[in-house]
Amino acid sequence: MKRGLKFLLFVLVAIGFAAVANANSLKDNPNYEVLKNFKPQGVTTSKCLMCHKRRDQGIVADWQHSKHAKAGVGCVDCHVVPKGYPTAFKKHPLRGKKWAVQIAVSSITCAKCHPEEVVQFMNSGHARAGSQWLAGNQSGHGYAMTKLSYNYEAMRGDNPSLNGHTGMAKGIDPALNVNQDNPALAANTVANNCIQCHGAVITLDKQGVPTPDVWPNDGMSSRYPDGGIGSCVACHSRHKFSAAAARQPGACANCHLGPDHPDIEIFDSSVHGHILATNPEDYDFSTGEQIPGKTLRGPTCFTCHMSGINGLKSTHNISTRLEWNLWAPKSFKRTKGNETAGWAWYESRKLSRGNPKAGNLDGPAAARATMKKVCATCHENTFIKNYFIRTDGQVTLYNQYNTIAVKMFKTLKSKGLIKSDLWSDPFFKLYYYAWHHEGRRMRQGAAMGSPDYSHWHGVFEVMQDIREMKDIYNYRLRLLKKYKDPKKVLLNEAPMSMAPHN
Ligand code: HEC
Ligand code: HEC
Ligand code: HEC
Ligand code: HEC
Ligand code: HEC
Ligand code: HEC
Ligand code: HEC
Ligand code: HEC
Repeated sequence: MKRGLKFLLFVLVAIGFAAVANANSLKDNPNYEVLKNFKPQGVTTSKCLMCHKRRDQGIVADWQHSKHAKAGVGCVDCHVVPKGYPTAFKKHPLRGKKWAVQIAVSSITCAKCHPEEVVQFMNSGHARAGSQWLAGNQSGHGYAMTKLSYNYEAMRGDNPSLNGHTGMAKGIDPALNVNQDNPALAANTVANNCIQCHGAVITLDKQGVPTPDVWPNDGMSSRYPDGGIGSCVACHSRHKFSAAAARQPGACANCHLGPDHPDIEIFDSSVHGHILATNPEDYDFSTGEQIPGKTLRGPTCFTCHMSGINGLKSTHNISTRLEWNLWAPKSFKRTKGNETAGWAWYESRKLSRGNPKAGNLDGPAAARATMKKVCATCHENTFIKNYFIRTDGQVTLYNQYNTIAVKMFKTLKSKGLIKSDLWSDPFFKLYYYAWHHEGRRMRQGAAMGSPDYSHWHGVFEVMQDIREMKDIYNYRLRLLKKYKDPKKVLLNEAPMSMAPHN
């Protein structure tokens, strides 16, 4: 009885928590109301055009061809803010008593007119893209990835990085830290790489002009000084802000490609990609309506992950139809509702790793049911059911390989048999490729119908990695018996050749 009561209490508290956790509102950010209620006096877009038509022909042309221009939404609606606003550009030639121009336009500006899209975006995995790799949780692989950019590629060494991480150079061969005293180059490397897909924390100089280490960037979830998260331009581009463009697979391909998440290559080599390439005239991207035979023949990225199809609502939350997390070292079900990273930012001004279990509010089974509904527009039940049994099987198989790899890694580590400079250690490199590159290809290839990525670029290579890892593992343990000293083992190990990983 007591246990029953406790359980009931637990359930009630859990429900309460869930309600609070999911009740995030744009109003939590005071700047939202400030912008929404702000009506700039004495300035019109035609005034901006007087100078900018000549200065910015491309920008103005794109804007003129946008739905915004047709609806009367102009430069002023997005670029004019109250004078003291966190992103105000103080030295712009034209400014009012109560208003200023902003260069860095965050999603809080879009939220004035598109609050639903912004909230959906904030609840999605896309919203953590920036914070997740920057946040300094030392236990997660996110930290290892941050280290990769700041200390191995950029060789920023022990200098506190852009984000205040310290002590990261521990274990790196000092001879390779050649750029220790050149933090400008270190920032440059990050500016050209991670942030262009993920986003960054946007910093402004005293005049309100964004700094070159972080801007411009097209990354998915930059964090702006006004608390706005996300770059809506990532799929819509500035200044056309087109929905038709965002419906094309090309809108995702800027980031979802390459050895570690080849989603565009997977799509192009799937039957769905093949029929789009063969019959592009059967597709109409100018509308969100998904009617087979009229607006499409097969699905594209947005059809499966975002579109309003077969009774589903169109959504900017690209995580709600995902049952698994397929990018993690070991896949797990998405059991925990909405993403939190973007919402946490304004309150605490702290970066958070977010919620990699974010998916469908009603849980992983509901996520799968929605994805199946997409398929059911064009395929029958048996086809869909069997397809996902195979997909899930491939994920489970991958997880088993990962278990073997983790076990070997932990044993070697506990015996001091992993080099402190991880990226000089052949075992670690194989371990990394096996989950981050090949293991993702194996899982994502199966989920999106590309046998080549599922097999030749996927499980085949994972299987090879495991064998190579096992060789190194056995060899190191044998040498340890001989030398008794792990340092000696690592010093005496011959360089290892590695299989190609792309
Ligand atoms: C009198 C001419 C003039 C008018 C009118 C004008 N601008 Fe400008 N604008 C400029 C000049 C010049 C610059 C470059 C300033 C600089 O780089 O210091 C500029 C820069 C900008 C920038 C920043 C570009 C960058 O990335 O450095 C934005 C955004 C901008 N203007 C928006 C507007 C908006 C919105 C309006 C209307 C409210 C407007 N401008 C009206 C002349 C003008
Ligand atoms: C629907 C909102 C919107 C409208 C309308 C709009 N802009 Fe922008 N603008 C943006 C966003 C978003 C960015 C990107 C900001 C960032 O990356 O931080 C931007 C960036 C810019 C930049 C800097 C980028 C560059 O290439 O130099 C300039 C200059 C600019 N806008 C000028 C204008 C002018 C002039 C107009 C009117 C013709 C205009 N904008 C209309 C949203 C808008
Ligand atoms: C002042 C209000 C306002 C602001 C601010 C605003 N928009 Fe819009 N937006 C509109 C209106 C009105 C439409 C046209 C709706 C229509 O024609 O159906 C529109 C349409 C759109 C569309 C659909 C275009 C298409 O091709 O169908 C996109 C995408 C869009 N806006 C993105 C943005 C983004 C991103 C921002 C912020 C950078 C933004 N908007 C800021 C009012 C606004
Ligand atoms: C500007 C780069 C960029 C573009 C463009 C982009 N994405 Fe992403 N996407 C990312 C990044 C970065 C992540 C990883 C977020 C994380 O987990 O930190 C991601 C994650 C995802 C995820 C997994 C989300 C999760 O919860 O784990 C899906 C699904 C996805 N994107 C689909 C799309 C689709 C569909 C499009 C095109 C309509 C698209 N993306 C366009 C960068 C991009
Ligand atoms: C070409 C665009 C691109 C670049 C460049 C890029 N990423 Fe990513 N990243 C993505 C996408 C897309 C995903 C989502 C993969 C998925 O959902 O399967 C992702 C996922 C991630 C994740 C979450 C999953 C994970 O791996 O833990 C982290 C952390 C991450 N990237 C860190 C980084 C860092 C650090 C850099 C720079 C060293 C970087 N990324 C460079 C596109 C990119
Ligand atoms: C991952 C790519 C992606 C990102 C990022 C993105 N959008 Fe969209 N957006 C789309 C797609 C695809 C559509 C078309 C959806 C449909 O037709 O169902 C769309 C449609 C829209 C529309 C038109 C909706 C309608 O009913 O006509 C608006 C408005 C919009 N987006 C605003 C935004 C805003 C604001 C942001 C930033 C928070 C944003 N988008 C970020 C891909 C994106
Ligand atoms: C036929 C429908 C379909 C199409 C088309 C499609 N996807 Fe997917 N996608 C899926 C399914 C199903 C999954 C796995 C869902 C799950 O975990 O249950 C998935 C998974 C993903 C993931 C992995 C998320 C994670 O957990 O790491 C990303 C990223 C992604 N898709 C992006 C894209 C992009 C980008 C495109 C276009 C180039 C695309 N998808 C085209 C159905 C599709
Ligand atoms: C808008 C219609 C449409 C949607 C939605 C759609 N498909 Fe397809 N699919 C097609 C067409 C058309 C073909 C090519 C004809 C065929 O092989 O049946 C195809 C082919 C396929 C194939 C290759 C055929 C084979 O025998 O292996 C697979 C697998 C597949 N689809 C799976 C899916 C899955 C899974 C989903 C949902 C996540 C989905 N499709 C959603 C239209 C669609």
